[in-house]
Amino acid sequence: MATLAAMLALVLGLALLAVDTAEAQPDLFRRIYTGLDGNQDLNTCTRLLSVDKVIGCSSPEDGGVGALFHISSDQELDNFDRADHHSYITVISQDMFAKPTTLQRLGDYNKFKGALVYSPENTTASPWSPDDTSPNADFGLESANPPAWNSAGGGFGASGAEGSHWQNYKSRPIFYLTPADRDLVISRMTENNQLSTINPGYPLVAAELRSFMWGAKDAKTCLRRKHCDPLRSHNIWGTMQEYNTSQEVVMVTAQMDSLAFFHDQAIGANADASGLVALIAAARLLGDPMNSAIRTAQKNIMFVLFNGESFGYIGSSRMAYQMTRIPSNFPSAALPLTFDQIPYLLEIGQLLSGGEDITAYSYRNSARVQEVTGFLQTAAANLTSNMNVDYQAGADIPPASLRMILHEFRNETKREEFGGVFITDHPASGFTNSFYHSRLDNADYIDASSNATVEKLCNVSSVLAKSLWSMAFETEPPMPLQQADCDFVRELLYCITVDQTCQLVKDSVNVIENTPSPISRYVGVKPTAGTLTRPVGFFFNQLAAAIAVDRNVTYNSTDGCTANGRAPDYQRIRWRGTDVCYLSATFTHLAWSPAFDGYYSLKPLGTPSFDYRDGRDPRWSTWTESTWDPIKGRLFFVDAPHAELGTVLGGLAWFFLSLGIVYYLSTHITYDSHSLLDPDGN
Ligand SMILES: *[C@@H]1O[C@H](CO)[C@@H](O)[C@H](O)[C@H]1NC(C)=O
Ligand SMILES: *[C@@H]1O[C@H](CO)[C@@H](O)[C@H](O)[C@H]1NC(C)=O
Ligand SMILES: *[C@@H]1O[C@H](CO)[C@@H](O)[C@H](O)[C@H]1NC(C)=O
Ligand SMILES: *[C@@H]1O[C@H](CO)[C@@H](O)[C@H](O)[C@H]1NC(C)=O
Ligand SMILES: *[C@@H]1O[C@H](CO)[C@@H](O)[C@H](O)[C@H]1NC(C)=O
Ligand SMILES: *[C@@H]1O[C@H](CO)[C@@H](O)[C@H](O)[C@H]1NC(C)=O
Ligand SMILES: *[C@@H]1O[C@H](CO)[C@@H](O)[C@H](O)[C@H]1NC(C)=O
Ligand SMILES: *[C@@H]1O[C@H](CO)[C@@H](O)[C@H](O)[C@H]1NC(C)=O
Repeated sequence: MATLAAMLALVLGLALLAVDTAEAQPDLFRRIYTGLDGNQDLNTCTRLLSVDKVIGCSSPEDGGVGALFHISSDQELDNFDRADHHSYITVISQDMFAKPTTLQRLGDYNKFKGALVYSPENTTASPWSPDDTSPNADFGLESANPPAWNSAGGGFGASGAEGSHWQNYKSRPIFYLTPADRDLVISRMTENNQLSTINPGYPLVAAELRSFMWGAKDAKTCLRRKHCDPLRSHNIWGTMQEYNTSQEVVMVTAQMDSLAFFHDQAIGANADASGLVALIAAARLLGDPMNSAIRTAQKNIMFVLFNGESFGYIGSSRMAYQMTRIPSNFPSAALPLTFDQIPYLLEIGQLLSGGEDITAYSYRNSARVQEVTGFLQTAAANLTSNMNVDYQAGADIPPASLRMILHEFRNETKREEFGGVFITDHPASGFTNSFYHSRLDNADYIDASSNATVEKLCNVSSVLAKSLWSMAFETEPPMPLQQADCDFVRELLYCITVDQTCQLVKDSVNVIENTPSPISRYVGVKPTAGTLTRPVGFFFNQLAAAIAVDRNVTYNSTDGCTANGRAPDYQRIRWRGTDVCYLSATFTHLAWSPAFDGYYSLKPLGTPSFDYRDGRDPRWSTWTESTWDPIKGRLFFVDAPHAELGTVLGGLAWFFLSLGIVYYLSTHITYDSHSLLDPDGN
């Protein structure tokens, strides 16, 4: 017994000694594993599932592992063929990543286990959009042959019209490297001569990427197994006057969400943050106390910010569905809003590409549509010297919520007569956004801080506000205050595209981040009705403040915002950080696809039918997001196989040596218990 105990103690002691040595040398420890997380969270391509599609990435459950291999040119992509290790994580420059051939070729190799994507320092990226050439073509108005709006997108699929975002990368994780991580990875590869050599010597720099997603098969199976959540969040809407069913409503809308290949990089500075900013600035101009006459206009104005539009118009389909199906219950069953009540609808899309002109699109050139474009043209001529409002009619409205709203009409005649107009910056020849729905549609791309950018948005806001004024009044009194607040436009654009820790955000919602970063506006999977995501909370507060009927309601620390006898259709909203409450008719509306009739259940598949009780209507989005395991990425060195064998043999030798020492000690030292117990005895 004593022998065994002593032996164990000694082996344990030697083992502890080894551990101690490693911990006493932190440099050595760091050299073994280096975590990848730059100064932000890791950004990865994620797995999404619909009833008939699985897209995006997941790692194997124990991670994608491989030696690093650099691909920044066609030559290096060709070289990959000759790289003879059995597993690789490729490090791909943005321009190579943007070429569809790169991912398509890599996908054919078993040794391709994942990728790290980076933007080189100080280089201008070539046009790239991970979206389809006709984004959202499966949803909204049918078009037999949708125009290739997005020339920077596509490249995948049989017709080459699908974008890289909508492909299935199976168990290959694809991460985006922040500049800090890019520099780390490139410097490790350079030190190791691994940047340019096809088969460099050992040790190799390798990476382990974990982004395991549970979702598998399709949305229906995945929801049943509770491994997926439907994409859902909130729309925001607010009215100038207290809403009632006997007053006509002028609706003005913009998209709140954006999209990117990588989960948290959905900045969408041009598409469609520019339209969002213009709408909020126009609402502020109309909400200014100087313009309070708007609150007595014949028609009400309803501002709507839709969410989830990038994934088949989730937010607008839910609202239009509630307005057209019987019984309508938007905003409530007691006060239903129907399309008959909406003479004019104006949607604002991206605004910052091209020159100063904007184009108005409609489905048919109806009398109502002519009125809307007339109001826009008059306002533009009155307010700015150089903005023209061009006009395009035809079924091929660019990707816009209006496409989904029009498709919800049950009565063809009413659809043809509807006064719905989409305004955006590009002519009928297509988008002029080089980076549509990618992380590169950012502040740099739109030159967010330049006076030209701010002025353009500011001018559009003024034109919008003046047009809405004209639409709301049947006989128009002059609008006292006519110019939007350009400083506010500048600040809001800055907060969204550059720094979400800006003062405006701090004043209105809780700020968690310390490092300046843009607001990512991916719709997400907000599961509960009560709480808003922070971006949604921020836009809610911006709209609520813009159209508040009273900006000086006393804040009561016991009661929150004290009641002041106003009608319940206004609600009191407190800005964080201030002791002031706003009284505003601003509300949220749950944005989730009508394809789901209960949380976690899809309507049964059936013959497509207009009666939504009969079967799932394939026009509605069925996108869900897979649940994830924690995301991790790290670098380490791989030794040559013989060196690894050496380590194992060395370890075994050490073990047997320890055993030998223990055995020697236990056989050559005799324990004389008497001498211990009785020093004098013999
Ligand atoms: C990029 O620009 C910065 C600042 O102008 C400069 O310090 C840096 O050396 C440049 N890097 C490269 C790779 O050209
Ligand atoms: C609805 O609003 C209009 C205009 O403000 C007003 O004249 C009318 O009385 C209201 N109707 C109801 C039922 O509140
Ligand atoms: C612009 O509109 C205002 C009133 O709304 C009017 O007084 C002014 O003459 C108009 N200016 C032009 C250039 O049309
Ligand atoms: C904005 O409108 C003003 C006033 O008409 C004009 O001087 C300016 O050039 C316009 N700016 C842009 C960028 O359209
Ligand atoms: C469709 O709308 C038109 C007028 O807008 C109306 O005359 C017609 O009766 C409607 N059709 C149906 C089937 O309700
Ligand atoms: C941009 O506009 C601001 C405020 O209107 C002005 O102070 C500044 O000089 C302008 N900058 C440039 C480069 O024109
Ligand atoms: C806000 O209300 C308080 C008390 O009701 C009043 O003293 C104060 O002047 C008001 N502030 C503004 C900016 O109207
Ligand atoms: C604050 O709210 C409490 C509870 O409703 C009420 O008793 C109190 O009078 C309010 N204080 C003020 C200053 O309005």
